[in-house]
Parts: sequence; C-alpha cells; structure tokens
Amino acid sequence: MESLLSYRSRFPIIERSVYLINHSLGAMPAGTQDRLRDYAETWATRGIRSWEEGWWEMPLRIGDKLARLMGASPGSVVMHPNVSVCQSLILSCLDLRGRRNRIVYESLNFPSVKYIYEAHARAAGARIVEVPSDDGVTIDTERMIEAIDDETLLVPISHVIFRSGYLQDVAAIVGKAHRVGALVVLDVYQSVGALPFSLTELGVDFATGGSVKWLCGGPGAGFLYIRPDLIGQLEPAATGWAAHREPFAFADQMDYSPDVHRFLNGTPAIPALYAAETGYDTILEVGVERIRANSIRQTTRLIEMALARGWRVNSPLDPAQRGGSVVIDLPRGAEIVRQLASRDILVDYRPGAGLRVGPHFFNTDDEIDTLVTAIDSLLSRQGSQA
Ligand SMILES: Cc1ncc(COP(=O)(O)O)c(C=O)c1O
Repeated sequence: MESLLSYRSRFPIIERSVYLINHSLGAMPAGTQDRLRDYAETWATRGIRSWEEGWWEMPLRIGDKLARLMGASPGSVVMHPNVSVCQSLILSCLDLRGRRNRIVYESLNFPSVKYIYEAHARAAGARIVEVPSDDGVTIDTERMIEAIDDETLLVPISHVIFRSGYLQDVAAIVGKAHRVGALVVLDVYQSVGALPFSLTELGVDFATGGSVKWLCGGPGAGFLYIRPDLIGQLEPAATGWAAHREPFAFADQMDYSPDVHRFLNGTPAIPALYAAETGYDTILEVGVERIRANSIRQTTRLIEMALARGWRVNSPLDPAQRGGSVVIDLPRGAEIVRQLASRDILVDYRPGAGLRVGPHFFNTDDEIDTLVTAIDSLLSRQGSQA
C-alpha cells in the first residue's frame, strides 16, 4: 500500500502552497487535466456518437462510484450540478399542503439549503422548525429528536456542519424520524471523502453532496442519493426529458423511468463529470478509513497547538464529533487569512465562526506547524501594532 505522502506528487498545487483549504476547494489531482483533455478529444473526434459511447450513462456510472464511497447500492445515485438543485428536486417530489408539512432542521444548516426550504415554505405553506444551537458549534441531538413529530414531513440536515465541523448523530435522528413517518435528507458535502459512513446503514431516505471539497472533484458535479425502495414511488416535478422511460422517443406525455434515471432532468453537465472522476478514483484508492485516521491525527495536533496558545477553537474537541476541518476564532481573522494567503498558506474565514483549516490525506504534519507558526508571527505583529 502506498504511503499517504507518496500521493503528494499527484497534486500540483501543494508544490507551490501550503494547501489547507480542502473543506472549501479540494486540491486538483494532476490526472484531472488528462481527463478534461479526453473530454475535448472525445467531443472533437467522436462528435454525436459520444452520447451512446459513454456520455449518456455518465451521470449514473459516476454516481455508482460515489455510491461505493458512501456505502450505498449501485443505481441509487445520480449526478446533478450542485446540492441546491438536488434539494429542490427532492422537495418537488413531496406534497407540502397536507397536515404533515413540518420541515425540521438545525439552525447551523448550510444557508443555501435553508433558502430553498424557506422559499418553498412561503410558496406552499409548509412550516419550518429551526432547532437552535446553544454554542454556534454543536446541535443537541435530543433537541433535534424532540422537534421531529408526527406532523414532520422532512428532516433535511447536514452530516458535518460547514461552519464548525460538528458531526451530527445521524442514526439517532433517522431513528426518530422514521418512528413518526418523516423522511431524512442528509447533506454529506462536508463528510464524503473525509470520513467513512454508509448511507444504507444510516437508513437515510435521501442524500445530497458535491465534489468541490474532500472529493477533489471540482465544481459542477453534485449528486443525489435516493433510498432504493423509494425510487419507484416518487415523481419529481423538477423533471425533464432525461427522466423519461424512453427519452429519445420525445413523447408528448411524461412516463417516468422505473429506475434512478427518473431523478435526472435535462442534459447532464458532462465536462464536470469528466473533471470529477479522477478525484473519486483517488479517494477510492487511498480509502476513507485511512483518510479519516490521518485527519483525526492532524486536526488533533492543530487543536492542541491552538489551545496551548489560548486560541478559541470553534469545533468539537472530541474527534468522534468532528469532521475534517477545524475552526479557530482569532482576532481580525479575515485579515489573518489574507496575510496567510500572501505567504501561500491557504485557509479561509467564515464570519461568526473563524478561520477554517482543512488538511487532507496529502498534507504533512509540518504544514500544520507552518500554519501555526505563521499565525503566531502575524498575531505578534498585530500585538506590536496595537
Ligand atoms: C454542507 C454544505 N452543503 C452544500 C454546499 C454547497 O451547495 P451547492 O452545491 O448548492 O453550491 C456546501 C458548500 O459550501 C456545504 O458545505
């Protein structure tokens, strides 16, 4: 088995920078450039035949790779451009006008997801229940469970909270939701590629995510998982010809495909799928268990160094409750991030949270130390200027 550090040569950007921003835009594998060249070559030389020679089935073939990464069965995942589209597509399968129309989620849910539910609630009269967080970092699972009742239709939650890295107890939430007849949508954007999990074992009804972060797959390749036994029961209103049983019949009436194709809509974003595949292959090759073990070691190292300096850590200290990123609240954090970038140390900043750091399997412990030393020097400069 290759050592994790041997993968460094596959990621060009880490020769030029300390790349600790994989929770935001995962580093591009060098092989992606070849795949994008393949795309152009295929289009240029095979033209219209490209559809039947692979393009048409790509949203499902690529989806099956992700299914392997997420412990889901083949034929349960389709590709879409992003999470926002997928969440809207899920909502378009459901009737929000009945008595069971409560939508329960955590206040720390990803804003785009909240915007979608709030807009649908306004338009269709559904009721939103937002479960607050006491500390802006975690969500009390008991509170989530209490908020889910027999009028709850949907529980769309994040697996790992984007602004704190808190890992939710999904099994407990699904347990309650299913006891009262509600469906759970799990947004795995911040967990897929960073930690092992099984959608089948968790029992969620839907999942959404994308490739921009830990999957190192770049923008434009989002995905939607549907629990296999639900597939045939749902008829998305956000649909299109690619969801038809016989798309090339161009029939006047919709007749949904019996399988997961029914969750497609229009022409798939083929270049984004080419761009994403090398990232998935690399994560499959490395293995999420190894990625997780390395991440726990490096994020723990970072947290210990931060606490030793008296910095406030806005992420769970217990690794079992933490995803792949660590948030550190520092005075003038946005300015520190800018200064770090000018030294080619890349992290990001989220208002109300702090400086976010996301090491991936190809990062070294030395890079964590370089970041901390650079922050030390910027803070001492701030101190001497104050
Ligand atoms: C938890 C979570 N969900 C969703 C997204 C992105 O959503 P979309 O794919 O619609 O851009 C992000 C990315 O920033 C995220 O962290």
